[in-house]
Amino acid sequence: MTGPGDFDLNRRELVAGGSAAALTSLPRGAHAETTPMDRTTRMQVSLTVNGQRRDLELDTRTSLLDAAREHLHLTGSKKGCDHGQCGACTMIVDGRRINSCLTLAVMHQGAEITTIEGLGQPDALHPMQAAFVKHDGYQCGYCTPGQICSGVAVLAEIKAGIPSHVTADLNAALQVTEDEIRERMSGNICRCGAYSNIVEAITEVAGRPA
Ligand code: FES
Ligand code: FES
Repeated sequence: MTGPGDFDLNRRELVAGGSAAALTSLPRGAHAETTPMDRTTRMQVSLTVNGQRRDLELDTRTSLLDAAREHLHLTGSKKGCDHGQCGACTMIVDGRRINSCLTLAVMHQGAEITTIEGLGQPDALHPMQAAFVKHDGYQCGYCTPGQICSGVAVLAEIKAGIPSHVTADLNAALQVTEDEIRERMSGNICRCGAYSNIVEAITEVAGRPA
């Protein structure tokens, strides 16, 4: 009978063992070629993050989210799915919200980036942060930085007159309605289900009765 300890190989050892086996089975005189995947390309990237210029040398495959979290140690933006499906990584880039897990840092040379750390400070909260606290717009808080960045961007979109899928009259002035907020926030998933409180918080910041 075998126990768990009999298979005490981790993934790295398994891959290394497999590669060694493959090399020993090469015909005499043949050489292992370096594949393009082995060659890492690095690039200098300059970003303005929360008002500060940051110069980084990055592997060109680094997402904007990983650049912020792993290289700048700004861990407020969360990695939920890493597939553009949950909105936990939302940042504001040149005034527009973006799923930072889905974009490469090198694509944003010179961009102005705002993360949750740049919106407000513990003793001077951004109005959207204060409204989330007041309306209990979170439970575990994991989605909250993305929700708040998205909420700020949503109000800017409505103010700029950008219609959404639920805008009924494209010729009328846009209103901050619950339908508009829910539609525009639909890319920000909250597994705790704090949606109604989030809508109340955004509505209050928009200056309408919550
Ligand atoms: Fe980027 Fe989920 S982590 S959308
Ligand atoms: Fe927990 Fe949104 S507050 S996922």
